[in-house]
Amino acid sequence: MKSFVLFAVTAAAIAQDGAALFRARCAVPYCHGQAGSAGRAPKLIGHTYNSSAVFSIVSGGLPAKGMPGFDRDLTAEEIEAVTRYVMTFAGAGPRKNEWGISSRTQLTPELERSRNLFFDAARMNGCGRCHEVDGWGSKVGPDLSRSASWNLRGGSGKGVVTARIGAETFPALVLEPGSVTRLWDLGSRLPVLRTVAGADLQTDAASRWDHAAETRAYSDAELQLIRPFLQWARKQQPDAR
Ligand code: HEC
Repeated sequence: MKSFVLFAVTAAAIAQDGAALFRARCAVPYCHGQAGSAGRAPKLIGHTYNSSAVFSIVSGGLPAKGMPGFDRDLTAEEIEAVTRYVMTFAGAGPRKNEWGISSRTQLTPELERSRNLFFDAARMNGCGRCHEVDGWGSKVGPDLSRSASWNLRGGSGKGVVTARIGAETFPALVLEPGSVTRLWDLGSRLPVLRTVAGADLQTDAASRWDHAAETRAYSDAELQLIRPFLQWARKQQPDAR
């Protein structure tokens, strides 16, 4: 019920919620300071983590560094709200994943530009919000380093359904159906992994979710510039010919 109420509030309210949750849970004495300043834990202003890294650090913590995980205390929606708030402190420069690795593979400047565009932080991690390539990004959509499709705007919408839980309706990708169902909620800017009771969930194969809408932040010319990175990633596959 709590998660439903949270889902129903507007995006602006979610952002505010993130700030309030941050103040209550993260900016406590001995941890992070107010509004991202330093406490005993590092300051977050100017951090260079990508949003999927922030999401997974807030969820699972960084045990080696004494940062606790919050996945038992906060709902996925609340963790997303905190993530969005923490992303407002992000600095410029290449993004790091949760292991602090800012660049897994040394690339030529041309490929580097192509990759940065794919994972563009200014666009909330761009394509990397939903696609993982070279160990980065989120595994919501298919692995593009193994995909045969070159229609970067398109996407067929295959597999995306309309999910209904009570009065709540949202586009979703179901991962594991069953008495407890895991699904990606594509209704928010940053897809959220949710666990719902199968008995409460209804799905309709028809969906108005449109991949093209998700890529609207990129011009055609920019999509062309992304290709070399994907071409490179495909060649890295062990079975590539
Ligand atoms: C909000 C999530 C989301 C974002 C952002 C997103 N995609 Fe996708 N993408 C998906 C999903 C889900 C699918 C599978 C369903 C479909 O094909 O529409 C997909 C499918 C694809 C496919 C087809 C793959 C195949 O093998 O059928 C391509 C190519 C693709 N995306 C490229 C991109 C590129 C390039 C970007 C960035 C410009 C991007 N996507 C951004 C979610 C996303």
